[in-house]
Amino acid sequence: MQHTGIAVVGSGSAVPPTTLTNAHLCQMVDTSEEWIGERTGIHQRHLNDGRSSLTELATKAALEAITMAKLQPMDIDLIILATSTADDMFGSASSIQFALGATRAVAFDLTAACSGFIFGLVTCAQFLQTGTYGTALLIGGDVLSRWVDWSDRRTCILFGDGAGAVVIQSHPVNHLLGFELHSDGSQNKSLSLKYGGTDHELLEGIAVSQGNYKPIDMNGQEVYRFAVRRVPEVLEKTLLRANLTVDDVDWLLLHQANQRIMVAVAERLHIPIHKVISNVARYGNTSAASIPIALDEFVREGKIKTGDVIATSGFGAGLTWGSAIFRWGT
Ligand code: ACO
Repeated sequence: MQHTGIAVVGSGSAVPPTTLTNAHLCQMVDTSEEWIGERTGIHQRHLNDGRSSLTELATKAALEAITMAKLQPMDIDLIILATSTADDMFGSASSIQFALGATRAVAFDLTAACSGFIFGLVTCAQFLQTGTYGTALLIGGDVLSRWVDWSDRRTCILFGDGAGAVVIQSHPVNHLLGFELHSDGSQNKSLSLKYGGTDHELLEGIAVSQGNYKPIDMNGQEVYRFAVRRVPEVLEKTLLRANLTVDDVDWLLLHQANQRIMVAVAERLHIPIHKVISNVARYGNTSAASIPIALDEFVREGKIKTGDVIATSGFGAGLTWGSAIFRWGT
């Protein structure tokens, strides 16, 4: 089997137009703009209403990434949609494939909550590095607003909706410098979006469970402690594996959950704050979309340049966490 490297060659993003500010939240739950700003760094988030779908957001982000990569949808071999909030329980990746006209591509969903983009990046890389496929489209997209209890002040302040995408291609030089992925189901209770059905008897002695999902349930302090411990640890391991030091890192790009988590991780790793990519203030936590949306923003603003080393880490429900270090561009 042929072994090659990979390069991330295009990015795109899309968010719904409606914004919900901290001032708006004060009209909905017992909170204050100061509390939300100080504890999370979030000032507003974009929310999706029924007029649009995750598939539409993801398709828009994907088209931007394909255009930046100077490719056509027909050039794509593989589409992975990292999401926990597909429009269709059977998966939304195929609908995106159809909307794009990427008829050559195989498409499937991957669920790893807020780690989804990192897990998806590594999954794409496996297909590319073995020579199975030449060009992959990875989309991280979520509309967690569908599953937030908007009367729960502990969670409703955190989340926003959006999608981000990257195009990854096989390349003679490997720009994926290292990665590490982890799961710990023993801590699943800390953060969940559980199915909650009731029994429905079909015939005597034969019942099925039917129902819906319960809103997001989170122990914020436990998730916070998990993140500030595991994220620096996984990044240190990945740097070691890649034979790099923190000085080689141009950008620290963490899942955009909370500004305090990003600052704490940067301090633990001795990475200066000007290297920390953050846009959580304007988007909140967009789950699997947060890393590619922030990446795309910094690429389009010309801040991230070809050859820059980006250390990324995702963490979230599962619990799952992981990191990938890559060079931007070819
Ligand atoms: N406004 C005002 N007060 C509030 C609010 C609010 N919105 N929410 C909670 N409080 C209160 C609490 O009731 C508590 O009051 P008490 O002391 O009288 O009981 C007090 O504020 C402190 O609550 P804590 O939960 O200890 O607050 P903390 O400083 O931990 O901040 C937060 C909470 C922001 C949720 C923080 O724990 C956090 O960011 N955790 C990580 C969450 C996260 O990143 N989750 C996403 C993971 S990614 C994924 O997979 C989806």
